[in-house]
Amino acid sequence: MKIFRTSSDMNAFSREVRRKGGRVGLVPTMGYLHQGHISLAKIAKEHSGFVVLSNFVNPTQFGPNEDFERYPRDLQRDNNLCEQAGVDAVFAPPVEEIYGRNESVWVVEDSLSTVLCGKSRPGHFRGVCTVVAKLFNIVEPDIAVFGMKDYQQLKIIEQMVRDLKFQIRIIRAPIVREPDGLAMSSRNKYLSPEERKNALAISAGIKEAAKKISAGCKDYKKIKSELALRISQSGGKLDYVEILDADSLHEFSYKNPSKNILVAVAAFYGKTRLIDNAIVGR
Ligand code: PAF
Repeated sequence: MKIFRTSSDMNAFSREVRRKGGRVGLVPTMGYLHQGHISLAKIAKEHSGFVVLSNFVNPTQFGPNEDFERYPRDLQRDNNLCEQAGVDAVFAPPVEEIYGRNESVWVVEDSLSTVLCGKSRPGHFRGVCTVVAKLFNIVEPDIAVFGMKDYQQLKIIEQMVRDLKFQIRIIRAPIVREPDGLAMSSRNKYLSPEERKNALAISAGIKEAAKKISAGCKDYKKIKSELALRISQSGGKLDYVEILDADSLHEFSYKNPSKNILVAVAAFYGKTRLIDNAIVGR
């Protein structure tokens, strides 16, 4: 497995793979890998011969009071996991390789980013879009895999690829859960045993809400308030509970709901912000 620190080395590798007729799949990550990331790498392998996993904790997607400094990092452990998972190359650049001194160009999506996490984390998706666009330009992949746990991020990246004409196919990967239902996340590491147990209210509550919607219940207001109550009774501090049109990420007409409905939650357990969701097909 190759490990690259510079954009030029990374790009030369990708170009060489493609020159020989190979296809490159990119899995963008911020490291501290778990089975969710490994599943993305496996999906990338199915769609392309060569898998590049980027491992970069992107400073521009963290707000001033967020966890950029304490975000878990362990490159050696991550590289071992990548090697075992059959990743062909890891791109792990230092911050200076991705951001120059006087940069003033950003990639901003200004519709889908105005709700959910975009509302509570101003500037977050500007950082995500900018770094992902840079990674796309550096790696020049044929496909890129994004997990559905960050559903809003996935939608925004799909929009960015369409609008900016990146010649890259985005593959959606299902949420990977712990056996008890907790969605896998690098941030789960911050949870105390008690917080971790309490946080199960999120996945269990979302499952229950999705079941009611699938069964035809249209009282979304009630479903939302029951879900909110379950999370706050478990000790979670709610950021949001939303039931939205899964395509537009906006509220839908109750009379004429779109095909897919998104149930999305963000909540803090202690200082740890967790997100989770489910898509209910109509
Ligand atoms: O989902 C993540 O880990 C990050 O937001 C991403 C896509 C790697 C961009 O930094």
